[in-house]
Amino acid sequence: MYDLTVIIPTFKEEANIRNIVTEVDAVFSRNNLNGEILVVDDNSPDRTISIVNEIKKTKLNVNIIVRLADHGLSQSVAEGFVQASSDILVVIDADLSHPPSLIPTMYREIMGEYDIVIGSRYMDGGGIKKWPLKRRVISLGATFLGRLLFPDVSDPVSGFFAVRKSVVANAQLKPRGYKILLEVLGKGTWEKDKEIPFEFVDREIGSSKLKLKTIVEYAQQVIDITLFSFLHHESAAWREWKRVFKFGLVGISGIVVNQGILIFLKEFAGFPLPVASLFAIEIAILNNFLWNDLWTFKSGGQQQKISSWWHRLISFQIVSAGGAVINFAILNVLAYMMGIDYRIANIIGILVGFAWNFLLNRRMTWIRK
Ligand code: GDD
Ligand code: MN
Repeated sequence: MYDLTVIIPTFKEEANIRNIVTEVDAVFSRNNLNGEILVVDDNSPDRTISIVNEIKKTKLNVNIIVRLADHGLSQSVAEGFVQASSDILVVIDADLSHPPSLIPTMYREIMGEYDIVIGSRYMDGGGIKKWPLKRRVISLGATFLGRLLFPDVSDPVSGFFAVRKSVVANAQLKPRGYKILLEVLGKGTWEKDKEIPFEFVDREIGSSKLKLKTIVEYAQQVIDITLFSFLHHESAAWREWKRVFKFGLVGISGIVVNQGILIFLKEFAGFPLPVASLFAIEIAILNNFLWNDLWTFKSGGQQQKISSWWHRLISFQIVSAGGAVINFAILNVLAYMMGIDYRIANIIGILVGFAWNFLLNRRMTWIRK
C-alpha cells in the first residue's frame, strides 16, 4: 500500500511525460514518501503510452491506465480515483504547469486534518505566468461562477489538488469537461478544505486542448451541482444555500423592525417622518447585523472569523448602504425611465440589493481564516 497516489491525466504528452514522472518520483525520494504514480491516458496516438511503459520497467511505482472509451480529462481523473491504490489522491497536470515540489506539503496538510487541499492561483502568493489576456478572462469568469457555490475557495477550478479517497469514494460524480475539482467539491463528502498558493506556469511544449465546448460544459456542470445541492443537504454547496436562506429571513425580520420602529417613533414619540425613518433604517441594519453575525454566519469549526466585531459591523453598514442605493436606483430607473410598474420595479430592486448585500458581506464582512 502506498502513502499517496499522484494521478496524471494525459492526452498527447509525449514531450512532457518523462519529465513530469521523473520529477514527481524525485520528489517522493527526497521526502521519503512511498508514492504511486498513476498516468491515466486517453489512448494518445503519440508516444505517451510507450514512454510510460518504458519507465515502468525500472520504476515499479509507476502505472498507466489506457482508456478506450468516454474520452475526457475529468473522466480520466475520476477513473484514476477508482484505480488508485492508496487513500490520498493528488491530481497534477502533465505539462509542468503545477510544481511537483508542493506535493509533500499537500500530503502533510491532508494527513493533518483536511479532506481537500487545493493548489490556488488566486490567493496571496499564488499567480499565473504567461497567460494571454483571453485565457485570464475566461478563467476569472469560471472562477467567479465556482465561487458562487463555494465562496471560501479562492480557486475552485484548479487542476492541482489533493483529496482523501473517502471524499470521492461514494460520490455520484458526473465527470465531464475540465473542472473535476468543482465536481469533487460539489458532490464529495467533505468538511475541511485548505488552500496553498502556487504559481501556474503555462505549458512550454504542446498546446492546451481547451475549447468553446469546454466552457459550455462548465456552465452545465455548475447548474448540475446547484440542483444536486438542493437534493442533497449534506453537500457543501447546500451549506451555502442555507446561509442565503437565513440571510433572507433576517432581511424579512429587518423589514418588520423598520416598520415597527417607524410607526412607534412617528405615532407615539412624535418624531417627524424623515427623522423617524432614518432611525428605523439604522436600527433595522443593526438588527440584521446582529442576527447574521450570531446565526447566519455563526463562528465555530471552520467558520473562524478573521476581522473584529467592530470591523464586521462597519463593513456590514457600508455594504448595506450600497444595497439601499442599488435598490433605490433600480426602482427609479425601471419605474421612471422604462415605465415599469413601480411595485414590480421595487421587487427587482430589492432582489438585486439582496444579492449585493449577501455576496459582498459574504466576501468582505464574514471572511474566514
Ligand atoms: N486523459 C486525458 N484526456 N487527459 C487530458 C485530456 C483528455 O481528454 N485533455 C487534457 N488532458 C490532460 C493534459 O495532457 C494535461 O496533462 C492536463 O490534462 C491539462 O490539460 P491542458 O490542456 O494543459 O489544460 P489547461 O492548461 O488548459 O488547463 C489546466 O488549468 C486549468 C485551470 O485554469 C487544467 O489543470 C485544468 O484542469 C484547470 O482547470
Ligand atoms: Mn496546461
